[in-house]
Amino acid sequence: MATEEEILARLKPGCICKGIKLRLIIQAIENGATSFEQIARITDIGSGSCGSKRCGRKVAELLKERGDV
Ligand code: FES
Repeated sequence: MATEEEILARLKPGCICKGIKLRLIIQAIENGATSFEQIARITDIGSGSCGSKRCGRKVAELLKERGDV
């Protein structure tokens, strides 16, 4: 059974500009990505119209929570 965090991650946007779900960003981190650049390469986030201002902040928070920053 999925945890509440997993369910929310499936629904929440990770990169609004590119339409990429938060779940894919979390998955990339769980698979070993430790920087925004690595996550962007894996998920294609960060190249939208905001220039990664929104998703960059989100990724920084996720990496910090997991102790990768
Ligand atoms: S939210 Fe990711 S590039 Fe804008």
